[in-house]
Amino acid sequence: MPENERDDGARAPAVLVCVAWPYANSPLHAGQIAGAYLPADIVARYHRMRGHRTLMVSGSDAHGTPVTVRAEQEGTTPEAVFLRYHESFLDIWERFGISFDLFTSTDTENHVAVTQDIFLRLKERGYLSEAEQTLLFDPVVKRFLPDRYVEGTCPRCGDPGARGDQCDHCGSTLDALELLSPRSRLSEATPEPRSSTHFFLRLPAFTERLLEWVEAQEHWRPAVRNFTLGQLREGLRDRAITRDIEWGIPVPVEGYEQKRIYVWFEAVIGYLSATREWAQGSGDPDAWKAFWLDPGCRTIYFQGKDNVPFHTMIWPAMLLGYGDLNLPYDVPANQYVTISGSKASSSRNWAVWMPDYLDRHDPDPLRYVLTAVMPETSDSDFSWGDYVRRVNDELVGRWGNLVNRVLTITRRHFDERVPAPPAALQPESSDLLARADAAFEEAAGHLEAVRLRAALGVPMALCGEVNRYLEERAPWVAVREDREHAAETLHTALNVISALATLLDPFLPFTSPEAWRMLGHEEPLERAGWRRREVAPGTPLPEPRPLFRKLDPALADEEEARLGAGS
Ligand code: MF3
Ligand code: ZN
Repeated sequence: MPENERDDGARAPAVLVCVAWPYANSPLHAGQIAGAYLPADIVARYHRMRGHRTLMVSGSDAHGTPVTVRAEQEGTTPEAVFLRYHESFLDIWERFGISFDLFTSTDTENHVAVTQDIFLRLKERGYLSEAEQTLLFDPVVKRFLPDRYVEGTCPRCGDPGARGDQCDHCGSTLDALELLSPRSRLSEATPEPRSSTHFFLRLPAFTERLLEWVEAQEHWRPAVRNFTLGQLREGLRDRAITRDIEWGIPVPVEGYEQKRIYVWFEAVIGYLSATREWAQGSGDPDAWKAFWLDPGCRTIYFQGKDNVPFHTMIWPAMLLGYGDLNLPYDVPANQYVTISGSKASSSRNWAVWMPDYLDRHDPDPLRYVLTAVMPETSDSDFSWGDYVRRVNDELVGRWGNLVNRVLTITRRHFDERVPAPPAALQPESSDLLARADAAFEEAAGHLEAVRLRAALGVPMALCGEVNRYLEERAPWVAVREDREHAAETLHTALNVISALATLLDPFLPFTSPEAWRMLGHEEPLERAGWRRREVAPGTPLPEPRPLFRKLDPALADEEEARLGAGS
């Protein structure tokens, strides 16, 4: 059966998994992974397993002040900074199993072309306006200063270290012009207000349509929907979408040669431009249409909560203005993960850096723990003590040992093959198999609603049930007096393990295929479909190898000691 078709022959539904584009200015940490990349990957893997036409795209956010500030600090070019971290991201996806169909960047010709097309169409349709804006200008380096390039005293709390975009001390969002005793980060000079002409996106023109649309999105997370409705009811303001900077996408309008398109205006366009780039590469340049023009496609946007306004209001407004393109189906933004009780911070080196983690540990245990604590409804905490405990008790104790134990006993007593069950199963065996079958629908419900903690809970609860079933029926004892009883137990357990390998695959894509192979399945797991595959009697069982390493509790202390070190 071709993968695109369902059992009933209908065209499979399409799912576009969009993931926030990370600024290419620093390595990624576990909090960002839990916020967006891991949930997106789990959902994409699940839809692929179901045979849905699934596309997962994102790329490096190459422009913007985070990248230029970093370049200036290092005395290098924004391009060099972007390229270095782009490589680092690609390496993380590979080693952590984040399965992008395309991870590109905003620094491609294709993205520039798509962005300029959208800009011009919105302008033509009257959704852009031009106006004078007063901005801070550095008289020494003779440049307009982006908000982040200005520091000064916070007008709200008096903290002397506030930046032009916000004050980290009291959390207020600021306008650079409000700062008291402002100074330029480029020269330390006192910046002067000067006026400059810019384009603005006329967001008020969309407020009514956005309100009506968001009100109908009852399946959204309450935090995302309520925040958005609150902002829309307060009313939106015109928003500047060009900047006086050099690094970025040129404004395709005469007189704007010295200016660039604002990073947030173009980065969100990346979802569309990346889909087009993927289509070009796929050999069917029209393939992007199934994801953007067919209203049956579900477009899901993964991100941390600070990105929400851009994905629930600004990007949808741009899509409405452009016309005919699909609006988001869901925006399952996550809250934050703290590390051992404190907010992640690069400057204090308080983070679990992904390249560093992957140099020393396996990917699946962190995928497991981050899913178990995923901040879906409120902020949550990651600690190394919890990591070690969950790996040892849950991954090794409940799942890994189950596989190992059942395979070892079966191989020893049944000639290294799957035993044949008796003609009629006892109720506890058929009940357990029925529960394994029902787990697929139950987990699917959670996965489609992006409740991933709950979705992971389904196979983990099933693991517990098989373990209890085994304890009760003790096949290691039964095998001596009642071989048939033991054969039934082990055959049943092997079949539930087969279901578990499939159910866990979206979460644990490195170890689940191993568990699958150890059951003697020849077909690759990714082609198994979202259902329990029978383990046929007589199938030879290869020698099992442990799926996970048990961790020494001292590891938690060593890792905790690294937090904040060298800062
Ligand atoms: N670069 C932004 C950040 O790291 C996210 C951009 S998401 C996009 O916060 F959709 F705009 F690309
Ligand atoms: Zn303040």
